[in-house]
Amino acid sequence: MSKPTPQSGAADEASGMRKGLTSYGDADFSLFLRKAFIKGAGYTDAALDRPVVGIANTGSAYNPCHGNAPQLVEAVKRGVMLAGGLPMDFPTISVHESFAAPTSMYLRNLMSMDTEEMIRAQPMDAVVLIGGCDKTVPAQLMGAASAGIPAIQLVTGAMLTGSHRGERVGACTDCRRYWARYRAGEIDADESAEVNDQLVASVGTCSVMGTASTMACIAEALGMTMPGGASPPAVTADRIRIAEETGAQAVRMARDGLVIGKVLTPAAFENAMRVLLAIGGSTNGIVHLAAIAGRMGLDIDLDALDRMGRETPVLLDLKPSGRHYMEDFHRAGGMATLLRELKPLLRLDAMTVTGRTLGEEIERAGPGFAQDVVRPASRPIYPQGGIAVLRGNLAPGGAIIKQSAADAALMEHEGRAVVFESIEDLALRIDSDELDVTRGDVLVLKNIGPKGAPGMPEAGYIPIPRKLARAGVKDMVRISDGRMSGTAFGTVVLHVTPESAIGGPLAHVRNGDRIRLSVAKRELSLLVADDELARRANASPVVEPTAERGYRKIFLQAVMQADKGMDFDFLRATKKPSTGAG
Ligand code: FES
Repeated sequence: MSKPTPQSGAADEASGMRKGLTSYGDADFSLFLRKAFIKGAGYTDAALDRPVVGIANTGSAYNPCHGNAPQLVEAVKRGVMLAGGLPMDFPTISVHESFAAPTSMYLRNLMSMDTEEMIRAQPMDAVVLIGGCDKTVPAQLMGAASAGIPAIQLVTGAMLTGSHRGERVGACTDCRRYWARYRAGEIDADESAEVNDQLVASVGTCSVMGTASTMACIAEALGMTMPGGASPPAVTADRIRIAEETGAQAVRMARDGLVIGKVLTPAAFENAMRVLLAIGGSTNGIVHLAAIAGRMGLDIDLDALDRMGRETPVLLDLKPSGRHYMEDFHRAGGMATLLRELKPLLRLDAMTVTGRTLGEEIERAGPGFAQDVVRPASRPIYPQGGIAVLRGNLAPGGAIIKQSAADAALMEHEGRAVVFESIEDLALRIDSDELDVTRGDVLVLKNIGPKGAPGMPEAGYIPIPRKLARAGVKDMVRISDGRMSGTAFGTVVLHVTPESAIGGPLAHVRNGDRIRLSVAKRELSLLVADDELARRANASPVVEPTAERGYRKIFLQAVMQADKGMDFDFLRATKKPSTGAG
């Protein structure tokens, strides 16, 4: 390769190091300066002349779900170089579920903005997005969708399962199960500490079908990962090989101009919704899909999702809806096994990051083999999709329930409301022996929506009041405008829209009101007359929360409701892009 002059091609080629030059008013000087600085790190002109692949590195000591990021970055770099590109890793915000106050969702949009702006600001012809923990993959897909260049997702992969007194355990369905047993007095503090050592047996994301696993499967269904990219556990050779392949593919995408808009089309989102339903995926997946689609100028239609749900069976036998863990799904063939079963329901013409369609990738994966993790469509775990969309005077903008994780006996239920005005109120009273509550009541929690808490925390999984838990009650109907961890289970109605903090009907529910839930009719009704509700609204008008400064000010001004993905209004695409997504 001939050695180019530092000034060559500055103005006529917008690729590689010549992309997005810093503004000094003299493009040739900008390139000259950029090369001078990067050469301080020892690069040659030959290296700098290659297509540049940015690698968004979200490794952080605060994020054990991304604890394998160093090995993944190394493998992606190897893949990029094998394919003739120049890898350049860069840091962005990293968000872990347990290390983000008030809640990780509050920071998702900030991470998406960081990702988008760093992709725009720095010269790169394609980007590899390394994410895994719940909010990171949606944040990266949102940011990359807005940035618009070729992009490919690499998830960190699931953690291994542990073992407690002969029982296999994994985060975080078993975290909740053991905590509930501790609350009910079934295990003591010593055993609680013992199991705490075993729930997260390695680095990597939660080992059940929580939000991280859901988003990994959705990313593959969207066509945004290498085939088979969703399921390899974090610490396996398969995960490292996928990383190498991802790096190599990023170079080909850059060369072929396979921009993200050619992959994130309406057909891709339809496939993602099918997969979300068929895996019994996290309800958070709906919010994230709506946000990613919004970045492409598309809407996720909740009623269409519900219609799809009626004809899409749950096939994946993973906790919390089923028995197995992500490492079992991987051994069972991963997404290829699932997609093969779902094939009649999929849009096979959807393009993927490989430059081939989803249908072509399913064919290339070859025939299946005997396994017991993905059921055949003829013998589903659950006959309908995992998630149902509810409407009614309590949720005019919709609410959802993960029916596959709910108690069948409570799906048609009418009960007396026991109301908590906020998370603080809940914490104060839920375990009181004085609480006026019986097993047939409906627990209602207000002010945990997008603006309410703020950030729509995963507090919708309202604990069973201690006195009922001790009496053996395992499930009750619970309703809130918040979210629930994908690893949780129960008859829990979530995402009530509009939220109480902006004056939705939920704000005016009172103790003793009757509430009716009918999953069969997709109904969520407050059995209180309209004029009485109007009277309550006039008597106690809601004051929306505000903030004086900083990110919280932007958040409270711009965050949209759950049905719009809780994205900021100014980040949605104003029109459908012309890349085929429309
Ligand atoms: Fe990171 Fe569950 S806490 S994936």
